[in-house]
Amino acid sequence: MSSTATTAFPFSQKAQRTGDSPIAWLMRKTIEDPEILSLAAGFVDTGTLPNDLVEAAVHKVFAEAGPGRDALQYGTTPGYLPLRQTVASRLEEQGLSNVDPDCIAITNGGQQGLYTVTEAFVDPGDIVLVEDPTYFVYMDVLKSVGARVLGVSTDEEGMTPEGLRDRLRELHESGQRGRLRILYLMSYYSNPKGSNMSARRRRELYDIYLEEITKGPIFLPIEDACYRDLTLEGEPEPYMKEFDKGNEHIFATGTFSKALAPGLRLGWSYMPPEVHTALCRQKANQDFGSSNMNQRILLEMLRMGSYETAAARFRERYRVKRDALVQALRDHWPAETEILHPKGGLYVWVRLPGVDNDPGSPFFNAVLEEKVLYVPGYYCFCEETQEPKPKDQMRLCYGVIDLEPMTEAVRRMGRVAAQFLKGG
Ligand SMILES: Cc1ncc(COP(=O)(O)O)c(C=O)c1O
Repeated sequence: MSSTATTAFPFSQKAQRTGDSPIAWLMRKTIEDPEILSLAAGFVDTGTLPNDLVEAAVHKVFAEAGPGRDALQYGTTPGYLPLRQTVASRLEEQGLSNVDPDCIAITNGGQQGLYTVTEAFVDPGDIVLVEDPTYFVYMDVLKSVGARVLGVSTDEEGMTPEGLRDRLRELHESGQRGRLRILYLMSYYSNPKGSNMSARRRRELYDIYLEEITKGPIFLPIEDACYRDLTLEGEPEPYMKEFDKGNEHIFATGTFSKALAPGLRLGWSYMPPEVHTALCRQKANQDFGSSNMNQRILLEMLRMGSYETAAARFRERYRVKRDALVQALRDHWPAETEILHPKGGLYVWVRLPGVDNDPGSPFFNAVLEEKVLYVPGYYCFCEETQEPKPKDQMRLCYGVIDLEPMTEAVRRMGRVAAQFLKGG
């Protein structure tokens, strides 16, 4: 008997809106061709991952059968209470006041915090304001829930107050202000730009928000503080969340991926109580709760001081790598190159004036010929920008690549850059 089976599976609208991450193929390329030097990959420095410290913590967790077995049991959706209490105390040490552990959720990386809160707030057609350029993986989340993503202009401190005011005015004028659900901000060393908000900028943006919610419906400001613990110079600025004294408005989120180990897949979010309830309902449907075992290992590491030790090692390593990358750009790229020198995080944002580096452009292909990869700004800018979408900016990451290949990659790109500045 012949089969009449159809191959067109009835995927949901959400599945149809969800494409491959635009940089998935960049990552695939690196794996397929081991000769490629990748300044694109956003992984952390492999040699600095704290094997020794994790091993000691694992040993502690499992040294006694009772607590060991507890770690292997299911946990709770918001996360292991002693861990949430420790995170709350840490946030207080970092300047926040009266942090209630019951308003904290431990998530599978910062990514799940962003994902679940977005699911709880955004219906198709709703509007989200983001810095332009923004964290492209979050942009994928927004597309998948059907959000309309509006970019707000940025400078070296991230979102500009003028840009935000303009966007809000436009939304009022076009009668769409009621669809605004989320304002997404990266307050420390943004991905991709490396921009860092001064305390003044944080206050200004928050004041605009407070004023705005007296004129229209409330929406959620997200402060993504993912790179705070990778502060490479001086002390980190205060959290924007610090201004939200009563925990009434801001969703603040951070991660243990960047300064400890992304393999643990743990992050935290701190938010107003009603938001916490809504987020935990989404999370319960996804996974009941994050890995209980990993949470207990993390708690041991926080108690033993190993988190601080690991974070300090990463910072030391990244200072060296950041400085080497910036120096290599100065040494090997044309003098016209504009470099945003990051005070933390993992990324250097570069502009080669007038040279189109979009994926598939002659510049991109010439760099690929040299077996080097970078993230074209194209992936990071929104479709709906305030200014024409620039083509001559790009993200270089010093996270995972070793010093020597990194310098070599910059040198090779510099040769191509010089050719293209001269007219290709
Ligand atoms: C800005 C930003 N936020 C959040 C995350 C989430 O990271 P994770 O899920 O590993 O905590 C990342 C990861 O690269 C990021 O760059």
